[in-house]
Amino acid sequence: MDIRLITANPAEVETECLIVIALDHGDKQKADARLAHNDAALGKAAAEVIASGEVTAKALETVLVHRPEGLKAKRLLIVGGGKAKTFGLAELRKASGAAVRFLKGRMIRTGTLAIPGLASGEEDAPRAITEGAIVADFDPDTYRTDRKDQRMKDFTVAAAAGADQARLQRSLDHGRIVGESQNFTRELVNEPSNHMTPTILAERARKMCEEFGLKCEVMGPVKIRELKMGAFWSVAQGSDEEPRLIVMRYEPQGAPENPVLGLIGKGVTFDTGGISIKPADGMEKMKYDMAGGAAMIGAMRAIAQIKPGVRVISVVCATENMPSGKAQKPGDVQIAMSGKAIEIINTDAEGRLLLADGLHYGRTLGCTHLIDAATLTGAVSVALGQVNAGIFASDDTIYGHFTTALQRSGEKFWRLPLDPEYFESIRSNIADIINSGGRYGGAITAAMFLKEFVADTPWIHLDIAGTAWIDDARGWIAKGPSGIGVRSLVEFVRSFESAAK
Ligand code: BES
Ligand code: MN
Ligand code: ZN
Repeated sequence: MDIRLITANPAEVETECLIVIALDHGDKQKADARLAHNDAALGKAAAEVIASGEVTAKALETVLVHRPEGLKAKRLLIVGGGKAKTFGLAELRKASGAAVRFLKGRMIRTGTLAIPGLASGEEDAPRAITEGAIVADFDPDTYRTDRKDQRMKDFTVAAAAGADQARLQRSLDHGRIVGESQNFTRELVNEPSNHMTPTILAERARKMCEEFGLKCEVMGPVKIRELKMGAFWSVAQGSDEEPRLIVMRYEPQGAPENPVLGLIGKGVTFDTGGISIKPADGMEKMKYDMAGGAAMIGAMRAIAQIKPGVRVISVVCATENMPSGKAQKPGDVQIAMSGKAIEIINTDAEGRLLLADGLHYGRTLGCTHLIDAATLTGAVSVALGQVNAGIFASDDTIYGHFTTALQRSGEKFWRLPLDPEYFESIRSNIADIINSGGRYGGAITAAMFLKEFVADTPWIHLDIAGTAWIDDARGWIAKGPSGIGVRSLVEFVRSFESAAK
């Protein structure tokens, strides 16, 4: 999809479809839909369909008008933005996505979205619109032999005549980089495990690093054992597929020595559960158990292009979790790279094992701040459903960076606690710690386990198990891999740039 920015009078734009936003200014009892554009010609063109009551401006509603009077566009698509009071960048991003999915579904491959009036954040509008459009353009049916290439051809963002074009263009470029990187992550996550082994994931990361000028180091079983990553290896030992330890570095010239941000990802390319094997029902979904690692690779792809003035190192631990004659067994004790002894209660609680070594390794590489992303627990979906992902933070300062990031990314995360009392559930009789705290507070005890391996380093843990895969299509995004985390991770890194200045 080609995306570009123009400044124009909307009535003059020649396009297959001009896209505008309607907002509801009414109260609970009665909708009062009006266009969010201060333009007389647009208002006139939409007057009849609005008066008819067809347009309620409900979020993601789409109403199409053919041959709109007084406009050069062939069609006018009115997308609902919801209540005027709550309309912001996140709603604009979704409205843009809904427009693209609507047009794609009707084989209309070009469109122009007129930037609506916003109470604030005008300069971020092209970014949000572009992110929404690119993310909406993704479909997961890559292996369908009759797949029609239904992608959009051209998408134009139209700013009012006389707007600061250079500034808006930068905003759009940022949105393109982030949106494409989110889709890059979704492509990786979408691949079935026979097409996305740890070796292939590492190759994809390496290729991406070459393309965008990042340093990349990929290590195999020998090096993983040499580093004494006993926790990571205990999962990898059961599989015939070799594990990979992927290290990507973004080290811009002139960046301060401090901070060094560590982005650590869980890259389980298939999770059978191991000897504590999972039930067959739904196991096919466990191909997406590398979504945290893929989010890190996608975030690094964006960071390499946006070039914030902060050092970033990403570590992705990639392996399968398989039952076999070589697989670890419940009761086994494993020594992590940090030296801590772990009693394995459940081989299906494997993500925390790789991350234990990944996080510790990040510290040895000099990371001053750590953030990990993982499809870590089913329990996080019991707590938060498929709407919010879980976030845990070691302190309020680092959490503050993430909330700043969320305001810009529009992603949804909800903070869960890390009280020391939870540690009681993961004490071991034979070793330092057990790898499963049981059913109660499962997402929290998993996070408490990770906390043992970050020591005093400020740290954030993102549990994306409930949100990395979308079961039912939403108006602005296809079903399948969501790419959750990428946008927030990029903004999280950028938030350190402004703090350093
Ligand atoms: N990969 C799973 C978590 C998961 C579940 C991701 C559903 C996506 C969707 C993880 O490795 C796992 O199996 N966790 C166990 C932990 C338990 C054994 C303590 C779980 O959540 O059941
Ligand atoms: Mn598991
Ligand atoms: Zn897993």
